[in-house]
Amino acid sequence: MVATDEQQQENPLLEGLSLRRTPDPCALVIFGASGDLTHKKLMPALYALMFRRLLPPRFAIVGVARSEGDDDAFREDMKQAVQKYARDEFRQDVWDALAASMRYIATDFADEGGENKLAELLTELDTEQNLGGNRVYYLAVPPPAFPTIVEALGKRRTSKGWTRLIVEKPFGHDLASARELNAMLWAHFEEKEIFRIDHYLGKETVQNMLVLRFANGIFEPIWNRQFIDHVQITVAESIGIEARAGYYESAGAIRDIFQNHLLQLLALTAMEPPIDFTAESVHNEKVKVLKSIHTPGPKSVVRGQYGRGYIEGEEAPAYREEQGVAPDSMTETYVAAKLYVDNWRWADTPFYVRMGKRLARRETTIAIQFKRAPHPPFGDVASEGLRPNVLLVHVQPDEGVSLAIGAKVPGQGMTIRTVHMDFLYGGAFRTSLPEAYERLILDTLLGEGTLFTRADEVEEEWLLVDSIVSAWQRDRPSFPNYAAGTWGPPSSDDLLHRDGRSWRRH
Ligand code: BG6
Repeated sequence: MVATDEQQQENPLLEGLSLRRTPDPCALVIFGASGDLTHKKLMPALYALMFRRLLPPRFAIVGVARSEGDDDAFREDMKQAVQKYARDEFRQDVWDALAASMRYIATDFADEGGENKLAELLTELDTEQNLGGNRVYYLAVPPPAFPTIVEALGKRRTSKGWTRLIVEKPFGHDLASARELNAMLWAHFEEKEIFRIDHYLGKETVQNMLVLRFANGIFEPIWNRQFIDHVQITVAESIGIEARAGYYESAGAIRDIFQNHLLQLLALTAMEPPIDFTAESVHNEKVKVLKSIHTPGPKSVVRGQYGRGYIEGEEAPAYREEQGVAPDSMTETYVAAKLYVDNWRWADTPFYVRMGKRLARRETTIAIQFKRAPHPPFGDVASEGLRPNVLLVHVQPDEGVSLAIGAKVPGQGMTIRTVHMDFLYGGAFRTSLPEAYERLILDTLLGEGTLFTRADEVEEEWLLVDSIVSAWQRDRPSFPNYAAGTWGPPSSDDLLHRDGRSWRRH
């Protein structure tokens, strides 16, 4: 149930939830119910939604996976996941309400039997709970399993109720495979029924980029090439590839982060104001940005792979020593690039982007660096400590926004130094930030597609990635070229130094 004004006043947990429609009764079917994503993200998110009474009053969760098991074993497994990963305290009454809605089917879906079992269970749930035939299918499975499942679901579509399909990344491996995947989905589902996940769009701070730009009158007039010197976007992770070598070896940083999260952050930073916050208006503006990104030349892209090093005092292995990674792997774990958005607003304004694993710290930021004041009248000595204004969006951690400005150092002389005006989520709002998946699951139940990616967006992202990757075939960098726990290869510093700039200091 969606919170009313009175409920919001009574219950601080509901603060910030705008009055929206109540989602219709429905069944959520999770394919890949025994996987990591379900344990770490989906079930904790569903628990958080139940905790805040945001799930529909009549609701069923059906877990589908290959592992043998029954409803009770599934509930027990999910209970442990919630106890381990949920952001809220464990409350028995909340859990009981969620567990009562949960059912399990063991099948790999490749056989007729699997399809039938699911169809029968859904019919039974419809009758029992009056779900009206409404379905959300969540594909939390590796991409090779998509076609079998999608075709089976497509064959059994009925005209009763609505159907929505959530598709997890990776959405293809290149432009050709993404197009193929889109065509396969469109054979059975309409575009408005497909919800492609880029979980960065569900992050509060990422949505706040739009609010910062378009709900405040002061930024937009200066949000352009006349006032902005350049933009820096950093997606740094201190973790390695964890147990995902099988996937990461063929993806690398360019497909894992650049193709989706990074380009989405860039698109939100560079896009024109949408006329409203509907999916169509927002997607249209983002696609325009993605289409305007100029393919960077080979000198404008740097790739790296980590060697051994230390992160927070702990020894970290080289990428090539990680379990499942080839000892001569040429997979990149770091990418930096200088991109240009060729349009009227941004012509000649560089967007420097970087992302990598096993960097010194976890940090995702968007830094808008403004041009220097044209003529500070205080003299060189006074202005020595003055840096250009920077608007820094801390996507994570320490979520917030800070503006670097010049201020007079107290005293008789005239000395100027850079200080920061900070807005921190933790201080301004008394509530913990929701996890991206809470927002994305709720939006799917409501049928709101704004925070998902449209087919043409994904295809534009791949077009750019394909052009970068094909240029990489021509040379073989000497990997590893950065130590774990540093900020990437030295050549990524050169990328900016050549332009008389440098990466923001940490
Ligand atoms: C995923 C990538 O999409 O995003 C992972 O596949 C990465 O490699 C993760 O670690 C980062 O997400 P977050 O929310 O922790 O920044």
